[in-house]
Amino acid sequence: MPVRPVHEGGGGRAEVALPTRTRQDTGVGFYSRHIFPALCDYALDRPLIAEHRRQLLARAHGRILEIGFGTGLNLPHYPPSVRQITAIDPNQGMSRRARRRIRQAGIAVELCPLSSEQLPFADGAFDCIVSTFTLCSVRDVSRGLAEVYRVLAPGGQLLFLEHGLAPDAAIQKWQRRLNPLQVLFGDGCHLDRRITTLVAGLPFSSVDCAEFYLPHTPKTHGYLYQGVATR
Ligand SMILES: C[S@@+](CC[C@H](N)C(=O)[O-])C[C@H]1O[C@@H](n2cnc3c(N)ncnc32)[C@H](O)[C@@H]1O
Repeated sequence: MPVRPVHEGGGGRAEVALPTRTRQDTGVGFYSRHIFPALCDYALDRPLIAEHRRQLLARAHGRILEIGFGTGLNLPHYPPSVRQITAIDPNQGMSRRARRRIRQAGIAVELCPLSSEQLPFADGAFDCIVSTFTLCSVRDVSRGLAEVYRVLAPGGQLLFLEHGLAPDAAIQKWQRRLNPLQVLFGDGCHLDRRITTLVAGLPFSSVDCAEFYLPHTPKTHGYLYQGVATR
């Protein structure tokens, strides 16, 4: 059954039928739709993280796609020149929680209940793709990134801020131990993905990435990758 995007924030664009399955169709339950969105806000709506979002999104430009839009925590950090974005997230519980932020942002958001592994957009449709704390959760992350690469225009940029595998062996050991619990309670989130390796698996012309531990955060969960990959 076709899925239609929700237009919020003064969009007014034509609706397009998007043939895909939502996560609700795949049986994600009450926890994912109602509890996990609140936990996400609790964990990710922090001033320290907001500063990294602002730094990253300062480069957002042109036709923008945000994958794993979540509860809309990036919206206040887009530069004023950004008036419109396309966003996807398979969890409609997240999208419900995002509505207030969308209204306040003054950015027209075309929000579609989609997964990044299967994007119904043309090759090269976007100049900029934003992914924050999302690649940890994409089930088939290689396929998700391949789709991101496909829909990026030549010269377009993937802006990413992700957590993942730490460089220290002792931390990695704990990340691997905790991973099954994290996947369960983090709605599919993995602690042990080396983001630079995943991004470098695609033929981007350049990848610039800073890696660091976020202060005041358990090291298993707070090793961040902040970067730009240019197609
Ligand atoms: C930890 S939340 C981060 C939300 C938001 N990006 C942020 O920075 O606050 C991860 C998000 O990725 C979404 N997600 C999970 N699998 C996905 C997929 N295959 N494609 C796109 N988004 C996905 C989840 O529904 C969730 O909203």
